[in-house]
Amino acid sequence: MIIAPSLLAADYGNFAKDTIRAGKSGAEWLHLDIMDGHFVPNISFGPHVVKTLRPLTKMFFDVHLMCSKPKVLLEPFAKAGADMITIHVELGDAVTPLIWEIKKLGKKVGLCINPPTDVGLVKPYLDKIDHLLVMTVNPGFGGQGFIYETLPKIQQANVWRCERSLRYTIGVDGGVNLKTVAECARAGADVFVSGSALFAAHSLKQAVTKMRKIVQDNDPGLADLKF
Ligand code: DX5
Ligand code: ZN
Repeated sequence: MIIAPSLLAADYGNFAKDTIRAGKSGAEWLHLDIMDGHFVPNISFGPHVVKTLRPLTKMFFDVHLMCSKPKVLLEPFAKAGADMITIHVELGDAVTPLIWEIKKLGKKVGLCINPPTDVGLVKPYLDKIDHLLVMTVNPGFGGQGFIYETLPKIQQANVWRCERSLRYTIGVDGGVNLKTVAECARAGADVFVSGSALFAAHSLKQAVTKMRKIVQDNDPGLADLKF
């Protein structure tokens, strides 16, 4: 199980401080949401910010590109210190070359799917990726309500993973809090991205510990994956 605080919910005037705080919380990954103002109606931050934060923690840097033209961004984020780069399946024909490009850069590959998109679209890529990220809100903003209708997608992704003995992790992103995380764990997710629920907590460390305990208590025991 991996807990991934999302920096999108951190204090924008104190990214460095909040990155260090996340690093000391026991969370394994730092989720970095990159928005281009086109694929999603919001803009976040770029590779220079990631490069600045990189020396502050040993956490795995999980870069989620919500961008229409990610090709030009892969190398800058790889050089900035991304450990994994996630692109969206909604990019259609561009997905396969992007996957190979990320692999060529020596980074783990993530594929993300938005709530309205048919889960069948990810199927051809499942043996080529390290991580499948299921959006549980429509991407663009933190602090939105969890969309429960996305839960069957997690279950389906877990069934495919077991049936084909594949090793990709299944992540959930958006509206994940101490309540909804239990449903996600039961559905088969093993990476839990959480922004506002973790950063708004008085103690990030306590919130991460609580979230981990809830996931453990709701583990369906279907997948015992190490990433
Ligand atoms: C949404 C982002 C999420 C977001 C999650 O577009 O991809 O990573 O930060 O934030 P919360 O947990 O606040 O929904
Ligand atoms: Zn994200």
